[in-house]
Amino acid sequence: MEKFYTTTAIDYVNGAPHIGHAYEKILTDVIFRHFQQRTSDAYMLTGTDEHGIKIQKTSAELNIEPQAFCDMNAQKFIDAWKLLGIDYSQFIRTTQKEHKEIVQKIFKRLVEKGDIYKHSYTGLYCAGCEAFLSEKDLDENGCCPNHQKKPEVVSEENYFFKLTKYKDAIIKHIKENPNFIVPSFRANEVLNQLENIEDISVSRAKTNVSWGIDVLDDNEQVIYVWIDALSNYITALGYDIENPSEKFKKYWPADVQVIGKDILKFHSIYWLAILMALDIPLPKHILAHGWITIDETKMSKSLGNVVSPSSVIESFEMTEPDALRYYMATAAPVGKDGNYSDNDFKEKVNAHLANSMGNLLNRTLSMLVKYFDGEIKPEFIKENELFDKSLKTIQEVKHHFDYFEIAEAAQKIIELVDLTNKYVTDNAPWTLAKEEKMTECGNVLYTVLEVMCVIASLISPYCPNIAQKMAKQLKYDINTKLDDIKINNIKTGKLISKEEISPVFLRLDSELADKGKK
Ligand code: ME8
Ligand code: MG
Repeated sequence: MEKFYTTTAIDYVNGAPHIGHAYEKILTDVIFRHFQQRTSDAYMLTGTDEHGIKIQKTSAELNIEPQAFCDMNAQKFIDAWKLLGIDYSQFIRTTQKEHKEIVQKIFKRLVEKGDIYKHSYTGLYCAGCEAFLSEKDLDENGCCPNHQKKPEVVSEENYFFKLTKYKDAIIKHIKENPNFIVPSFRANEVLNQLENIEDISVSRAKTNVSWGIDVLDDNEQVIYVWIDALSNYITALGYDIENPSEKFKKYWPADVQVIGKDILKFHSIYWLAILMALDIPLPKHILAHGWITIDETKMSKSLGNVVSPSSVIESFEMTEPDALRYYMATAAPVGKDGNYSDNDFKEKVNAHLANSMGNLLNRTLSMLVKYFDGEIKPEFIKENELFDKSLKTIQEVKHHFDYFEIAEAAQKIIELVDLTNKYVTDNAPWTLAKEEKMTECGNVLYTVLEVMCVIASLISPYCPNIAQKMAKQLKYDINTKLDDIKINNIKTGKLISKEEISPVFLRLDSELADKGKK
């Protein structure tokens, strides 16, 4: 595998980041870091979506210039991702000059091609969705089902994009590539939506929406925010119609574009049509993740239950984000909804990261110090059954990641941890030591430590700091590519002294958790 390019949705900056936004960025970062372990060149793009009526209105209500408002809120996303250890390669903001210029050229190209035309139109616009809705999209109260608000009646002369021209090609692509939309159960939903599509409005009259990218050669219209936003995935790479950059040629098409299920239509219909119209290859996969609820309730400002990632980090007094990353990345099977609760979070990470994984390393290293002065003797031999199982786990984890099954992959890693714990219990190295069967005792400890190197590598995309601490105590290179993990990870000789042993993850304290609730 040569390169790997992954993207996230770009978040609207009309508010601050919450745990649902964080979920997506963590998932994508875990995928990105995993594929860094398999390719020489992985690239991850994230960013913020800064135009449209929603941002225009919110900034006006606060009496702040829209650009200043965007600057202020974009920084909140940048700060949050830093706190969560999101290791993106690039952060794009749609108010950046380079982005705006390329979007204008893309629009112009589609006009020249005859795929964009002018048309008078009356429709129902939902600012929350930043989209026109049809009557049948609305609920029984005439509201947008996603935002519980009545859409606004808009009557404008707009530019329209010939979406219908690409309908058959999109249907064909989705049918012929059953893994294009992940999870595949969502493909039918998209195929149904495709049955009824019409051409879409791709501009707004400036009299109604001024905060957007100007249509070139027309000072009365701005480009529709979704056309602007979707283009980010290629403008960030320096896509240019006549002269695409080296970066674009290298990374496009994206290997996986991660988005929430609510915006699948924009990504699997509109986005594909734009790419087809521009004669650009399509992304390989669209991963539509599920929804994160709080204590099984939908997050909303009116309910006052919006959880920010920084509030979780603060209330548990965490010094690193690994536990929250692990919890979020494993919150739901691929594509399904997940839930955040303080209690469940604390219990899960204490059980998996502290009790099972952290303790296993700690106990084993302590025994190595106690019985062998921290030394790996040349005569120690690995027990093949468990070690082979660990190599098999690498293959299973890779396989899950090929299908973007992040929680499922983590499950395999924890199963290996559990199996290794069982191996220690079954072989009772402390009893072997008491019976002075020192070689047998050493073999057990050595086997466990070899497996711990594999575990450190596999857990590292989820918990990079913990993995780093494990690797340090194992004198193991955490940057080892997955395919280079062979049979001898641990060198013979002195491995560790008593002072060098330290727990890799401290249990989250229940009192702190309770305090955090208040
Ligand atoms: O849709 N659980 O921005 P956005 C899980 N700007 N994911 C959630 C979530 C939740 N509770 N709430 C939001 C937009 N998300 C556009 C995207 S891309 C070219 C433009 C996800 O701020 C949501 O599904 O409303 C989306 O993928 C992302 O957060 C940004 O949502
Ligand atoms: Mg949204």
